Amino acid sequence: MDNNFLTVDDVAKTLKITRQTVSKYIQKKELNAVKINKNYRVSYQDFENFLSSNSMVSEPETLYLKKSRNCYLDYEGKSNEIEILNYKPLGYLKSINDENQSLPNKMVFGDNYYVLKTLLPKYKNKVDLIYIDPPFGTGLNFSNIENDLAYSDKLVNSEFLEFIRKRLFLLRDFLSDNGSIYLHIDKKIGHYVKIIMDEVFGYENFINDITRIKCNPKNFSRNAYGNYSDMILFYAKNRDKNIWNEIKEPLTKEEEIDSFPKIHPVYGRYTTNPIHAPGITIDGDTGKEWKGILPPKGRHWRYSREELTRLDDLGLIEWSENGNPRKMVFANEHKGKKVQDVWNFKDKGLSYVDYPTQKNHDLLKRIILNSSNKDSLIIDCFAGSGSTLLVANQLNRNWIGIDNSNQSFDVIKQTFKKEKIKCNFYEYVSID
Ligand SMILES: C[S@@+](CC[C@H](N)C(=O)[O-])C[C@H]1O[C@@H](n2cnc3c(N)ncnc32)[C@H](O)[C@@H]1O
Repeated sequence: MDNNFLTVDDVAKTLKITRQTVSKYIQKKELNAVKINKNYRVSYQDFENFLSSNSMVSEPETLYLKKSRNCYLDYEGKSNEIEILNYKPLGYLKSINDENQSLPNKMVFGDNYYVLKTLLPKYKNKVDLIYIDPPFGTGLNFSNIENDLAYSDKLVNSEFLEFIRKRLFLLRDFLSDNGSIYLHIDKKIGHYVKIIMDEVFGYENFINDITRIKCNPKNFSRNAYGNYSDMILFYAKNRDKNIWNEIKEPLTKEEEIDSFPKIHPVYGRYTTNPIHAPGITIDGDTGKEWKGILPPKGRHWRYSREELTRLDDLGLIEWSENGNPRKMVFANEHKGKKVQDVWNFKDKGLSYVDYPTQKNHDLLKRIILNSSNKDSLIIDCFAGSGSTLLVANQLNRNWIGIDNSNQSFDVIKQTFKKEKIKCNFYEYVSID
């Protein structure tokens, strides 16, 4: 959606009706529209008037219902999506250093709601990946090891949910068609956030609820199971179009021993697989006798007989005592296993990090490698210590970071200096 006007397509998409139906509303003057460059455009105000006066079309509430399994989270102070998108702050971004104007990478100091609003016209549909690790609505203050306050997490309950929801609507519009968003949250509020995300992105675009093991097992005396995990909610802008690089996970030592129990003197751990597969070839090469044996009944050789001879000459076919040949498969050729939805990436303790709640860099590496490509643009608008930006930079991605904590800004500046990372720094100046 354009910052001032909705196109006919936008209206059709938002109301889940056809373009033709929208055109009819315009022709019958039920929906006010203006012609810009031969195309109809509808202002947000006119769209809202239309919604409130026309009982035939969905109210925003009904829109939520359609996207969120016919139910949604209701609370006092929940604002209308159109109002959120319509609101235009008057502030601007002031450059703090303009040394690297040619670089796409930016770190902006300010409240992300206003900063995102300001950046949206330029970066709409341009961002392939968003990772956010907002405050978790805990009501707590977070300080560094020297006890200097980094940030306050004082918004709780519905106020916290509305804070997140407003930002999610904006973030959705930054995402490219192949884009995706990962939201890191704890398990006290995370399930409410899931419902909000269904409302914003559509439940059909939900991909995973990843359980992240965040610390060592707990041994408290409360009558409860140790809570050593939090959650990462993963959504696509468009399910099945999202960038997905299928990054595999190496086997653990135990899994390797289990899957490759034998040891070859030169090539190391291996197992053996049959060289035949189900199905018969009537006249083909893979149904014929090889080294005096035929494939078992109803089966054919997995490889051509020439290939089998080549493998055997290389010593890669193992013959059992009763003359059964099997192909040797080596652990060092294994491509890794599919990553599941429980991740073990513990965070370091406060004395080992630059910023409280700083996240594990390997966790971010997995997300960035899987869900973005080289030169993709990534946003983290709760940047904290800048861990997402740092890892994105190491992996040759472009990025935009936002945070409103002085300490975050100091830590990021110091880290970037140390790591020789160049970017443009800005601050949001409010003139409202
Ligand atoms: C949990 S921390 C992020 C930690 C980060 N993922 C890391 O690895 O270092 C949340 C961050 O959100 C920032 N934050 C909270 N509200 C904000 C807002 N309205 N605009 C910008 N940043 C905000 C806080 O200052 C804090 O740095």
